[in-house]
Amino acid sequence: MKIPSAKIVFNEQDKQEILKSIEESLTTGQLTLGKNGAAFEEEFKKTSGTQYAVAVNSGTSALEIILRILHIQGKEVLIPTNTFFATPTAVQHAQGIVKFVDMDPVTLSFNMDILTQNMSKKTAAIIIVHIGGNITPDIHELVNFCNESGIALIEDAAHAHGSTLDGQPAGSFGIAGAFSFYPTKVITAGEGGMITTNDPKIVEEAKKYRDQGKASFLENKHDRLGYNWRMSELHAAVGKVHLRRLPGFIKERQSIAAKYTEGLKRVHKIRPVTVDSRCQTNYYKYIVVLEKGINRAQLKKDLREKYGVSLSGEVYELPCHLQPVFQNGYKKESFSIAEDFCQRHVCLPVYQGMTDEEVNHVLSALEAELK
Ligand SMILES: Cc1ncc(COP(=O)(O)O)c(C=O)c1O
Repeated sequence: MKIPSAKIVFNEQDKQEILKSIEESLTTGQLTLGKNGAAFEEEFKKTSGTQYAVAVNSGTSALEIILRILHIQGKEVLIPTNTFFATPTAVQHAQGIVKFVDMDPVTLSFNMDILTQNMSKKTAAIIIVHIGGNITPDIHELVNFCNESGIALIEDAAHAHGSTLDGQPAGSFGIAGAFSFYPTKVITAGEGGMITTNDPKIVEEAKKYRDQGKASFLENKHDRLGYNWRMSELHAAVGKVHLRRLPGFIKERQSIAAKYTEGLKRVHKIRPVTVDSRCQTNYYKYIVVLEKGINRAQLKKDLREKYGVSLSGEVYELPCHLQPVFQNGYKKESFSIAEDFCQRHVCLPVYQGMTDEEVNHVLSALEAELK
Protein backbone atom coordinates (compact mmCIF):
# COMPACT_ATOMS: atom_id res chain seq x y z
CA MET A 1 0.00 0.00 0.00
CA LYS A 2 1.32 3.48 -0.88
CA ILE A 3 0.42 6.34 1.45
CA PRO A 4 1.32 9.78 0.09
CA SER A 5 2.33 12.56 2.47
CA ALA A 6 -0.57 14.72 1.23
CA LYS A 7 -3.13 14.92 -1.58
CA ILE A 8 -4.76 17.84 -3.36
CA VAL A 9 -8.39 17.12 -4.15
CA PHE A 10 -10.62 19.00 -6.58
CA ASN A 11 -13.82 17.12 -7.35
CA GLU A 12 -15.37 17.05 -10.85
CA GLN A 13 -17.98 19.67 -10.05
CA ASP A 14 -15.32 22.05 -8.70
CA LYS A 15 -13.08 21.49 -11.70
CA GLN A 16 -15.95 22.33 -14.05
CA GLU A 17 -16.81 25.47 -12.14
CA ILE A 18 -13.19 26.64 -12.07
CA LEU A 19 -12.78 26.00 -15.80
CA LYS A 20 -15.96 27.94 -16.55
CA SER A 21 -14.75 30.86 -14.49
CA ILE A 22 -11.34 30.84 -16.18
CA GLU A 23 -12.97 30.65 -19.62
CA GLU A 24 -15.04 33.69 -18.76
CA SER A 25 -11.91 35.60 -17.68
CA LEU A 26 -10.17 34.65 -20.92
CA THR A 27 -13.17 35.83 -22.92
CA THR A 28 -13.71 39.12 -21.10
CA GLY A 29 -10.00 39.81 -20.71
CA GLN A 30 -10.46 40.55 -17.02
CA LEU A 31 -7.42 38.67 -15.80
CA THR A 32 -6.38 40.42 -12.62
CA LEU A 33 -8.08 42.45 -9.86
CA GLY A 34 -11.53 41.50 -11.08
CA LYS A 35 -14.67 39.83 -9.88
CA ASN A 36 -13.14 36.46 -8.94
CA GLY A 37 -10.68 38.16 -6.58
CA ALA A 38 -13.48 40.25 -5.09
CA ALA A 39 -15.69 37.16 -4.63
CA PHE A 40 -12.79 35.24 -3.03
CA GLU A 41 -12.24 38.13 -0.59
CA GLU A 42 -15.96 38.33 0.25
CA GLU A 43 -16.14 34.62 1.01
CA PHE A 44 -12.83 34.40 2.82
CA LYS A 45 -13.70 37.07 5.34
CA LYS A 46 -16.52 34.78 6.53
CA THR A 47 -13.90 32.10 7.27
CA SER A 48 -11.60 34.51 9.12
CA GLY A 49 -14.48 36.22 10.91
CA THR A 50 -13.09 39.64 10.00
CA GLN A 51 -14.75 42.62 8.38
CA TYR A 52 -12.28 42.62 5.52
CA ALA A 53 -10.03 40.38 3.45
CA VAL A 54 -7.59 41.49 0.74
CA ALA A 55 -6.30 38.95 -1.80
CA VAL A 56 -2.62 39.00 -2.78
CA ASN A 57 -0.30 36.70 -4.69
CA SER A 58 1.27 34.79 -1.75
CA GLY A 59 1.34 34.35 2.00
CA THR A 60 4.80 35.89 1.98
CA SER A 61 3.54 39.08 0.35
CA ALA A 62 0.55 39.16 2.73
CA LEU A 63 3.03 39.28 5.63
CA GLU A 64 5.30 41.85 4.00
CA ILE A 65 2.41 44.15 3.13
CA ILE A 66 1.11 44.08 6.72
CA LEU A 67 4.60 44.83 8.03
CA ARG A 68 5.10 47.69 5.57
CA ILE A 69 1.74 49.20 6.52
CA LEU A 70 2.79 49.07 10.19
CA HIS A 71 6.07 50.91 9.40
CA ILE A 72 8.35 48.48 11.18
CA GLN A 73 11.46 49.86 9.44
CA GLY A 74 14.41 49.84 11.84
CA LYS A 75 12.30 48.32 14.62
CA GLU A 76 12.26 44.83 16.11
CA VAL A 77 9.75 42.14 15.28
CA LEU A 78 9.70 39.10 17.59
CA ILE A 79 9.22 35.72 15.90
CA PRO A 80 9.47 32.19 17.33
CA THR A 81 12.34 30.56 15.48
CA ASN A 82 10.26 27.43 14.65
CA THR A 83 8.56 28.90 11.64
CA PHE A 84 8.81 28.91 7.88
CA PHE A 85 11.59 30.94 6.30
CA ALA A 86 9.07 33.45 4.86
CA THR A 87 8.05 34.76 8.30
CA PRO A 88 11.43 36.35 9.11
CA THR A 89 12.31 37.25 5.53
CA ALA A 90 9.06 39.24 5.19
CA VAL A 91 10.30 41.30 8.14
CA GLN A 92 13.71 41.77 6.55
CA HIS A 93 12.24 42.77 3.18
CA ALA A 94 10.06 45.31 5.00
CA GLN A 95 13.32 46.64 6.52
CA GLY A 96 12.56 45.56 10.08
CA ILE A 97 14.90 43.77 12.48
CA VAL A 98 14.13 40.12 13.15
CA LYS A 99 14.47 39.04 16.77
CA PHE A 100 14.04 35.29 17.06
CA VAL A 101 12.63 33.88 20.28
CA ASP A 102 12.11 30.35 21.61
CA MET A 103 8.74 28.56 21.58
CA ASP A 104 6.38 27.31 24.27
CA PRO A 105 7.02 23.54 24.62
CA VAL A 106 3.33 22.66 24.68
CA THR A 107 1.68 25.09 22.27
CA LEU A 108 4.73 25.46 19.95
CA SER A 109 3.92 29.18 19.97
CA PHE A 110 4.49 32.39 21.94
CA ASN A 111 3.60 32.71 25.60
CA MET A 112 3.62 35.67 27.99
CA ASP A 113 7.01 34.79 29.51
CA ILE A 114 8.65 34.62 26.12
CA LEU A 115 7.17 37.98 25.19
CA THR A 116 8.02 39.83 28.40
CA GLN A 117 11.56 38.43 28.53
CA ASN A 118 12.33 39.45 24.96
CA MET A 119 10.49 42.71 24.35
CA SER A 120 12.27 46.04 24.51
CA LYS A 121 11.64 49.66 23.58
CA LYS A 122 12.53 48.70 20.03
CA THR A 123 9.79 46.04 19.75
CA ALA A 124 7.20 47.15 17.21
CA ALA A 125 5.43 43.85 16.58
CA ILE A 126 5.24 40.14 17.29
CA ILE A 127 4.21 37.48 14.80
CA ILE A 128 2.25 34.52 16.14
CA VAL A 129 2.47 31.51 13.84
CA HIS A 130 -0.37 29.00 14.25
CA ILE A 131 1.90 25.99 13.74
CA GLY A 132 0.12 23.05 12.15
CA GLY A 133 -3.22 24.87 12.50
CA ASN A 134 -3.09 25.09 16.33
CA ILE A 135 -4.00 28.41 17.92
CA THR A 136 -2.36 28.93 21.30
CA PRO A 137 -4.88 29.41 24.13
CA ASP A 138 -2.53 32.15 25.42
CA ILE A 139 -3.45 34.34 22.47
CA HIS A 140 -6.17 36.27 24.34
CA GLU A 141 -3.68 37.33 27.01
CA LEU A 142 -1.05 38.13 24.41
CA VAL A 143 -3.51 40.28 22.43
CA ASN A 144 -4.51 42.24 25.56
CA PHE A 145 -0.92 42.75 26.60
CA CYS A 146 0.17 43.86 23.13
CA ASN A 147 -2.76 46.29 22.87
CA GLU A 148 -1.82 47.86 26.20
CA SER A 149 1.87 48.02 25.30
CA GLY A 150 1.48 49.49 21.81
CA ILE A 151 2.92 46.37 20.16
CA ALA A 152 1.25 45.10 16.99
CA LEU A 153 0.25 41.43 17.10
CA ILE A 154 0.27 39.92 13.62
CA GLU A 155 -0.93 36.39 12.88
CA ASP A 156 0.95 34.26 10.41
CA ALA A 157 -2.09 32.08 9.73
CA ALA A 158 -0.57 30.34 6.70
CA HIS A 159 -1.39 26.97 8.32
CA ALA A 160 -4.67 27.85 9.97
CA HIS A 161 -7.54 28.33 7.48
CA GLY A 162 -10.72 27.72 9.44
CA SER A 163 -9.04 26.90 12.78
CA THR A 164 -10.72 28.47 15.81
CA LEU A 165 -10.03 29.09 19.49
CA ASP A 166 -13.06 29.52 21.75
CA GLY A 167 -15.04 29.77 18.52
CA GLN A 168 -12.98 32.71 17.22
CA PRO A 169 -11.29 32.09 13.85
CA ALA A 170 -7.60 32.36 13.03
CA GLY A 171 -6.86 35.67 11.35
CA SER A 172 -9.20 37.67 13.60
CA PHE A 173 -7.14 37.94 16.81
CA GLY A 174 -4.38 40.34 15.83
CA ILE A 175 -4.22 43.64 14.01
CA ALA A 176 -4.05 41.60 10.79
CA GLY A 177 -3.63 38.01 9.66
CA ALA A 178 -1.75 36.52 6.70
CA PHE A 179 -2.92 33.33 4.96
CA SER A 180 -1.28 31.29 2.21
CA PHE A 181 -2.88 29.27 -0.58
CA TYR A 182 0.28 27.41 -1.55
CA PRO A 183 -0.65 23.88 -2.75
CA THR A 184 0.38 22.13 0.46
CA LYS A 185 -2.22 24.07 2.46
CA VAL A 186 -5.64 22.75 3.51
CA ILE A 187 -7.16 24.73 0.63
CA THR A 188 -5.24 26.16 -2.30
CA ALA A 189 -5.42 28.65 -5.14
CA GLY A 190 -2.28 27.25 -6.81
CA GLU A 191 -0.47 30.26 -5.36
CA GLY A 192 -1.93 33.11 -3.39
CA GLY A 193 -2.39 34.83 -0.07
CA MET A 194 -4.97 36.77 1.92
CA ILE A 195 -4.72 39.60 4.43
CA THR A 196 -7.51 39.63 7.02
CA THR A 197 -8.31 42.55 9.31
CA ASN A 198 -11.03 44.62 10.95
CA ASP A 199 -9.18 47.86 10.24
CA PRO A 200 -10.39 49.75 7.13
CA LYS A 201 -7.11 51.72 6.99
CA ILE A 202 -5.13 48.50 6.63
CA VAL A 203 -7.45 47.48 3.79
CA GLU A 204 -6.97 50.78 1.97
CA GLU A 205 -3.21 50.59 2.38
CA ALA A 206 -3.02 46.90 1.45
CA LYS A 207 -4.86 47.58 -1.81
CA LYS A 208 -2.32 50.26 -2.67
CA TYR A 209 0.69 48.18 -1.70
CA ARG A 210 -0.40 45.12 -3.69
CA ASP A 211 -0.73 47.28 -6.81
CA GLN A 212 2.72 48.89 -6.93
CA GLY A 213 1.89 51.47 -4.25
CA LYS A 214 -0.28 53.43 -6.70
CA ALA A 215 -2.09 56.46 -5.31
CA SER A 216 -5.14 55.35 -7.28
CA PHE A 217 -5.95 52.49 -9.64
CA LEU A 218 -6.03 54.64 -12.76
CA GLU A 219 -3.25 57.15 -12.06
CA ASN A 220 0.44 56.76 -12.77
CA LYS A 221 1.38 58.12 -9.36
CA HIS A 222 3.05 55.98 -6.67
CA ASP A 223 3.07 57.16 -3.07
CA ARG A 224 4.02 53.90 -1.34
CA LEU A 225 6.90 51.49 -1.93
CA GLY A 226 4.56 48.81 -3.22
CA TYR A 227 5.25 45.91 -5.55
CA ASN A 228 3.38 43.61 -7.90
CA TRP A 229 1.62 41.60 -5.21
CA ARG A 230 -1.68 41.20 -7.09
CA MET A 231 -3.59 37.93 -7.22
CA SER A 232 -4.56 36.96 -10.77
CA GLU A 233 -8.19 36.20 -11.59
CA LEU A 234 -7.19 32.68 -12.61
CA HIS A 235 -5.79 31.94 -9.15
CA ALA A 236 -8.79 33.58 -7.50
CA ALA A 237 -11.09 31.34 -9.57
CA VAL A 238 -9.40 28.28 -8.09
CA GLY A 239 -9.26 29.64 -4.53
CA LYS A 240 -12.86 30.76 -4.30
CA VAL A 241 -14.15 27.34 -5.35
CA HIS A 242 -11.78 25.37 -3.12
CA LEU A 243 -12.69 27.57 -0.15
CA ARG A 244 -16.23 26.15 -0.20
CA ARG A 245 -14.80 22.74 0.61
CA LEU A 246 -12.95 23.97 3.70
CA PRO A 247 -15.54 23.05 6.39
CA GLY A 248 -15.87 19.53 4.95
CA PHE A 249 -12.11 19.13 4.61
CA ILE A 250 -11.59 20.20 8.23
CA LYS A 251 -14.21 17.72 9.50
CA GLU A 252 -12.52 14.94 7.59
CA ARG A 253 -9.06 15.91 8.84
CA GLN A 254 -10.32 16.06 12.42
CA SER A 255 -11.81 12.60 12.08
CA ILE A 256 -8.51 11.21 10.70
CA ALA A 257 -6.65 12.93 13.56
CA ALA A 258 -8.98 11.40 16.15
CA LYS A 259 -8.18 7.94 14.74
CA TYR A 260 -4.45 8.66 14.96
CA THR A 261 -4.79 9.92 18.55
CA GLU A 262 -6.63 6.76 19.57
CA GLY A 263 -4.34 4.42 17.63
CA LEU A 264 -1.12 6.03 18.86
CA LYS A 265 -1.97 4.93 22.41
CA ARG A 266 -0.63 1.52 21.46
CA VAL A 267 2.54 2.88 19.80
CA HIS A 268 5.63 3.36 21.95
CA LYS A 269 8.24 6.12 21.82
CA ILE A 270 5.99 8.66 20.18
CA ARG A 271 3.42 11.20 21.45
CA PRO A 272 1.08 13.51 19.62
CA VAL A 273 1.41 17.25 20.23
CA THR A 274 -1.40 18.26 22.57
CA VAL A 275 -4.15 20.38 21.09
CA ASP A 276 -6.00 22.48 23.68
CA SER A 277 -9.65 21.48 24.02
CA ARG A 278 -10.69 25.07 23.24
CA CYS A 279 -8.93 24.95 19.87
CA GLN A 280 -10.68 23.45 16.87
CA THR A 281 -7.62 22.91 14.70
CA ASN A 282 -7.85 22.31 10.96
CA TYR A 283 -5.11 19.65 11.37
CA TYR A 284 -3.02 21.13 8.61
CA LYS A 285 -0.45 18.92 10.28
CA TYR A 286 -0.80 16.02 12.68
CA ILE A 287 2.41 16.49 14.67
CA VAL A 288 4.01 13.78 16.80
CA VAL A 289 7.16 13.99 18.93
CA LEU A 290 9.63 11.11 18.94
CA GLU A 291 11.46 9.89 22.01
CA LYS A 292 15.04 11.13 22.33
CA GLY A 293 17.57 8.97 20.48
CA ILE A 294 15.33 7.90 17.59
CA ASN A 295 16.95 8.56 14.24
CA ARG A 296 14.25 10.53 12.42
CA ALA A 297 15.80 10.35 8.97
CA GLN A 298 16.16 6.57 9.27
CA LEU A 299 12.60 6.19 10.56
CA LYS A 300 11.24 8.19 7.62
CA LYS A 301 13.31 6.16 5.18
CA ASP A 302 12.17 2.85 6.67
CA LEU A 303 8.52 3.89 6.70
CA ARG A 304 8.77 4.84 3.04
CA GLU A 305 10.81 1.89 1.82
CA LYS A 306 9.35 -0.91 3.93
CA TYR A 307 5.73 0.22 4.24
CA GLY A 308 5.14 2.76 1.44
CA VAL A 309 4.32 5.47 4.00
CA SER A 310 5.55 8.97 3.14
CA LEU A 311 5.47 11.44 6.01
CA SER A 312 4.63 15.04 5.29
CA GLY A 313 7.15 17.87 5.79
CA GLU A 314 8.11 18.94 9.30
CA VAL A 315 7.15 22.27 10.86
CA TYR A 316 10.10 22.78 10.75
CA GLU A 317 13.13 20.54 10.35
CA LEU A 318 15.62 23.38 10.93
CA PRO A 319 14.69 26.41 13.05
CA CYS A 320 15.13 29.73 11.29
CA HIS A 321 18.07 31.02 13.36
CA LEU A 322 20.11 28.04 12.11
CA GLN A 323 19.28 28.54 8.42
CA PRO A 324 22.49 29.02 6.43
CA VAL A 325 21.34 32.36 5.06
CA PHE A 326 21.07 33.78 8.59
CA GLN A 327 24.37 32.35 9.81
CA ASN A 328 26.13 35.70 10.03
CA GLY A 329 23.53 37.30 12.20
CA TYR A 330 22.04 34.61 14.39
CA LYS A 331 24.34 31.60 14.64
CA LYS A 332 25.42 32.27 18.24
CA GLU A 333 21.87 32.28 19.48
CA SER A 334 20.45 29.17 21.01
CA PHE A 335 16.79 28.31 21.50
CA SER A 336 16.88 24.94 23.18
CA ILE A 337 13.15 24.14 23.17
CA ALA A 338 12.68 24.92 19.49
CA GLU A 339 15.93 23.18 18.53
CA ASP A 340 14.89 20.04 20.36
CA PHE A 341 11.36 20.08 18.93
CA CYS A 342 12.57 20.72 15.39
CA GLN A 343 14.92 17.72 15.62
CA ARG A 344 12.43 15.30 17.12
CA HIS A 345 9.03 15.62 15.51
CA VAL A 346 7.40 14.21 12.39
CA CYS A 347 4.05 14.91 10.71
CA LEU A 348 1.79 12.00 9.82
CA PRO A 349 -0.01 11.94 6.46
CA VAL A 350 -3.45 13.59 6.53
CA TYR A 351 -5.42 14.15 3.34
CA GLN A 352 -8.90 14.27 1.88
CA GLY A 353 -10.26 10.83 1.18
CA MET A 354 -7.82 9.02 3.51
CA THR A 355 -9.45 5.70 4.39
CA ASP A 356 -9.50 3.88 7.74
CA GLU A 357 -7.38 1.21 6.13
CA GLU A 358 -4.74 3.79 5.21
CA VAL A 359 -4.76 5.32 8.70
CA ASN A 360 -4.37 1.85 10.22
CA HIS A 361 -1.55 1.07 7.82
CA VAL A 362 0.36 4.17 9.01
CA LEU A 363 -0.27 3.20 12.64
CA SER A 364 0.84 -0.40 12.11
CA ALA A 365 3.98 0.73 10.29
CA LEU A 366 4.87 3.06 13.20
CA GLU A 367 4.12 0.34 15.72
CA ALA A 368 6.35 -2.14 13.92
CA GLU A 369 9.22 0.34 13.55
CA LEU A 370 9.08 1.75 17.07
CA LYS A 371 8.49 -1.39 19.12
C1 LIG B 1 4.14 29.60 8.35
C2 LIG B 1 4.19 30.10 6.94
N1 LIG B 1 4.35 31.42 6.72
C3 LIG B 1 4.38 31.92 5.48
C4 LIG B 1 4.27 31.12 4.37
C5 LIG B 1 4.41 31.71 3.01
O1 LIG B 1 3.33 31.49 2.18
P1 LIG B 1 3.53 31.44 0.58
O2 LIG B 1 4.24 30.19 0.25
O3 LIG B 1 2.13 31.49 0.07
O4 LIG B 1 4.30 32.66 0.23
C6 LIG B 1 4.09 29.74 4.55
C7 LIG B 1 3.90 28.84 3.40
O5 LIG B 1 4.36 28.14 2.80
C8 LIG B 1 4.06 29.22 5.86
O6 LIG B 1 3.93 27.90 6.07
